[in-house]
Amino acid sequence: MPQETSQSSHLPVRHSPCTAVVGLQWGDEGKGKVVDLIAPRFGAVVRFNGGANAGHSVVVGGVRFALHLIPSGILYPDKAAVIGNGVVVDPEALLRECDGLTTRGVSVAGLTISDRAHVVMPYHKVEDELREKLVAGDAGESIGTTKRGIGPCYADKAHRATAIRMGELLDPAALRVKLEMICRVKKALLGSAGADLDAGALTAWAGALAERLRPHVTDTTYALHDMLRAGKKLLFEGANAALLDVDHGTHPYVTSSSCTSLGIPAGTGVPAQYLGEVIGVVKAYTSRVGNGPMPTELLNDLGQTIRERGREFGTTTGRPRRVGWLDLVAVRYSAMISGATSIALTLLDVLSGLPELNVCIGYRRIGDANGAVSDRFTPDAEALRRVEPVYRTFPGFAQDVTGVRSRAELPAEARAYIEFIEEFVGVPVRLIGVGPDRVQTIVEDL
Ligand code: IMP
Repeated sequence: MPQETSQSSHLPVRHSPCTAVVGLQWGDEGKGKVVDLIAPRFGAVVRFNGGANAGHSVVVGGVRFALHLIPSGILYPDKAAVIGNGVVVDPEALLRECDGLTTRGVSVAGLTISDRAHVVMPYHKVEDELREKLVAGDAGESIGTTKRGIGPCYADKAHRATAIRMGELLDPAALRVKLEMICRVKKALLGSAGADLDAGALTAWAGALAERLRPHVTDTTYALHDMLRAGKKLLFEGANAALLDVDHGTHPYVTSSSCTSLGIPAGTGVPAQYLGEVIGVVKAYTSRVGNGPMPTELLNDLGQTIRERGREFGTTTGRPRRVGWLDLVAVRYSAMISGATSIALTLLDVLSGLPELNVCIGYRRIGDANGAVSDRFTPDAEALRRVEPVYRTFPGFAQDVTGVRSRAELPAEARAYIEFIEEFVGVPVRLIGVGPDRVQTIVEDL
């Protein structure tokens, strides 16, 4: 934790009104649980990137909630839940999620959506699927997207003229005119694959959804600044993760948004200097869904054991996740670009019973056993494919840790593992997850 000094010309971290929770690996680190745990201290929980590709699970009193677009803070009735302008919103998926929460007794009255967030249209999902097929060809490799239309929607955002923002959904007459143009452009670009583009049908589809979403759509930028002026604190909930970031991740096997804390200002309209704490969430091992290099991947029985113990199957797509040893070279890189001030280490319980634990502390070129070891991450996918991990091995711990509630009670081997993470990354671990439930957490001065 950076020390506050009276000479400091910066906002002291402890007094900064905003905190971020972001993933430091390839996603699914357990960000939802961390957000849910600390949300009571904040006035609002705010999403700034991604869309329904994310899957945040929170278990409260044995009941599991899977959230995709709605910030995890929705589970607290007195918190505002804000979907910022950097998010791409699938209105159908959003309403499904709202209905799912309402039927389980969770009110969505506190949900607001930026009128500047872009809309994922049905044709974006068709295009996502088609692009994946075309990119893969007969024998090639696609990105392995979630097929939720994320890339094509962000592409339209960059194209501008063919993009639709949430505010535009609320004016059916103007939307109809715009959709005529969009359908004309897309038919010309997609050829026979654009057969389903019908401006009338799309306007009717959007209209029905818009009427239900109308009370929630607003200028969230002003709303967030009003909250800050009223002395409220904001919690930013990152979706996806640093290594999937469109600029800083393992390109091209990434998503299409800014997933680190760097995405917060642009994705919400809240400037960077309001941000103090950045909690980087790190799984005690590594997982990845979709294609792309993963140096520490375990393609053996041990990998299968960890996958089953960690229930490593996608919250959004159900796909089995690839799993591997903790890659600290990658985590240190992600902590650096996210400005992580603390680490929340999750799923430690999954490792109990393994005789040995490996952590990656460097990379060496494949086939060059005597070559130089680099401790720098390489975010270029092809370069990352050419390296193999250099491990440091730690003794495992046999004890079931799911009932442990303080670091001192953890087995010495688990403590040594955690201390090494802190030392290597240079960031303190202030939260340790030892099970899926809210209560199965060790929290230290966070
Ligand atoms: P897209 O975001 O659907 O375009 O997918 C791009 C890549 O990001 C694929 O490898 C996905 O599996 C991955 N991805 C997107 N969102 C998440 C997430 O929340 N967790 C894990 N992987 C994700």
